Amino acid sequence: MNSIVDSRTPSAVDEAERYTAHNYHPLPVVITEAEGCWVTDVDGRRYLDFLSGYSALNFGHRHPALIAAAHAQLDRLTLTSRAFIHDQFAEFCHRLSELTGQDLVLPMNTGAEAVETAIKVARKWGYQVKGVPDGQAKIIVAADNFHGRTTTIISFSTDEDARADFGPYTPGFEIVAYGDLEALSEAIDDYTVAVLLEPIQGEAGVLVPPDGYLSGVRALCSSRNVLFLADEIQSGLARTGRTFAVDHEDVKPDMHIMGKALGGGIVPVSAVAASREVLGVLKPGQHGSTFGGNPLSCAVGIEVIKLLETGEYQRRSAELGAMLHEQLRALMGRGVTAVRGRGLWAGVDIDPGVMTGRQASEKLMARGMLAKDTHGTTIRLAPPLVIEEDEITWAVRQLAEVIGAA
Ligand SMILES: Cc1ncc(COP(=O)(O)O)c(C=O)c1O
Repeated sequence: MNSIVDSRTPSAVDEAERYTAHNYHPLPVVITEAEGCWVTDVDGRRYLDFLSGYSALNFGHRHPALIAAAHAQLDRLTLTSRAFIHDQFAEFCHRLSELTGQDLVLPMNTGAEAVETAIKVARKWGYQVKGVPDGQAKIIVAADNFHGRTTTIISFSTDEDARADFGPYTPGFEIVAYGDLEALSEAIDDYTVAVLLEPIQGEAGVLVPPDGYLSGVRALCSSRNVLFLADEIQSGLARTGRTFAVDHEDVKPDMHIMGKALGGGIVPVSAVAASREVLGVLKPGQHGSTFGGNPLSCAVGIEVIKLLETGEYQRRSAELGAMLHEQLRALMGRGVTAVRGRGLWAGVDIDPGVMTGRQASEKLMARGMLAKDTHGTTIRLAPPLVIEEDEITWAVRQLAEVIGAA
């Protein structure tokens, strides 16, 4: 490990500050390698990763099966564009259709692109199948949502930082309170084509809706001929202890929107999956992406789905998540004011009288644990699902000591 004097961290942080747009406020750690739940910085310090790339690293850093699939594919074929079909495409889409229980799959790259795809498909379905008059389609979303950063998506954000000064905004969205079925029912009208929701709101601080909300949304959407679009980009793929967060209420949405962990922490892979009636509205030339569904993405995605098919990661998240939440709840009233979440995913509110979420994250970093704050007082915990019991206990002890609860 380097001494403070020849530490490479400050100059690397300065250089990044000088040459990059300041659209993030990263912790001052410069990571150079990683394996499983652990990362190492340029000075040789090791940290337990409790963020997992916002759930993009559900299977840990450099999972051997995923890395092997990527290597093998790199040696064969990396890109064709969708002008041609490649030999990884059908298997990826077939497996994802079976994982979601949906007829058709459309792969994209980033989460925001998958959400954009969902919006476009829902509107087209509204005009062509439901019979909504042209240009009148309405999509209902929830307050405090986070679905990505494109101009259309931030048009229906309630976070001023995400939205201000990026107008003019895309019309056609109505915002209702998250978790409020009555408000949702009142907002649905003849022009409503879809309800777009996160089954658990991640960016908002890991907000779990009241029991019965997701099944209530499903029932409302079915009875009013409206599509339920579930944004499982952060909550899906085993993060909450089930393959999808909607599974906790045995709900099948009209569209699964996936991203992050679908790329195994190696490549950006996102996708939407829906019935033939819904996704079948797209015809050649109406939507696309040069890199969406490329051979490397599909090869990694196939291995991700195979890992999910074992059920091991869902089980680990459920069992170890119960342990994590029990240990976190023991900090309530001792510097922690609330603990929310499901599986290995928690939003922990720090008592503002003790310190901010940012301060807690910085102090955790100094102790070798990486987590990130959101909305001032909350820190989000989402370790890779390959984490071990003793690592969880160690991490919660670090948090307890940092906030003075130990
Ligand atoms: C629920 C949800 N939807 C969409 C996105 C956007 O994904 P991306 O950053 O890959 O565009 C995110 C990213 O955090 C997310 O959490």
